Amino acid sequence: MRIDAIMNRRSIRRFAPRPVEREKLEAILRAAMQAPSGKNSQCWEFLVLEDRGDMDAVSTMSPYAQCARNAQAMIVVLGQRERIDPDVPIWIQDLSAATMNALTQIEAEGLGATWLCMYPFPERCAAMRDYFRLPDRVIPFCAIALGYKLQEKAPEDRYDPDRVHWGAY
Ligand SMILES: Cc1cc2nc3c(=O)[nH]c(=O)nc-3n(C[C@H](O)[C@H](O)[C@H](O)COP(=O)(O)O)c2cc1C
Repeated sequence: MRIDAIMNRRSIRRFAPRPVEREKLEAILRAAMQAPSGKNSQCWEFLVLEDRGDMDAVSTMSPYAQCARNAQAMIVVLGQRERIDPDVPIWIQDLSAATMNALTQIEAEGLGATWLCMYPFPERCAAMRDYFRLPDRVIPFCAIALGYKLQEKAPEDRYDPDRVHWGAY
């Protein structure tokens, strides 16, 4: 069975000037928190941004975050330090799973988004921490810029049988 929200999703970096409804944002956050996590740590928190100035500020925090300037909303994914084992950095997988669930829900809601990488770049994380006055107990992981799509991108079929090893390598 083809899951459209997975197979059609592409990174969208241009957004229509139309606010994203609160119910949609909540559905996206609900999907993110539904993700699996190592030892069921659920080591995530989310900072939701809708203020133009805040999203413009994020656009300057990474050389690859310019599209934040067009975003209508943003979800900053944060790691909870007290639930993270620094010797076993599995929290990165946990937060990636949450982020991916959010991206899939965003597509299902008829919206578009792009994953903006913050962690593990120290200068990007520091900029986030300073601007949003994040306490030390959370680690900025990534930002999801989202909104109604102002661009359409065709789905790409990336299935490559040469990368699959059935039974033995
Ligand atoms: C871990 C990760 C980090 C990414 N960081 C950025 C980023 O900082 N800026 C950006 O514009 N896109 C970023 N992307 C989006 C990728 O460029 C995009 O997913 C990739 O080119 C494939 O295109 P698609 O999402 O349309 O399928 C990131 C994606 C992932 C998974």
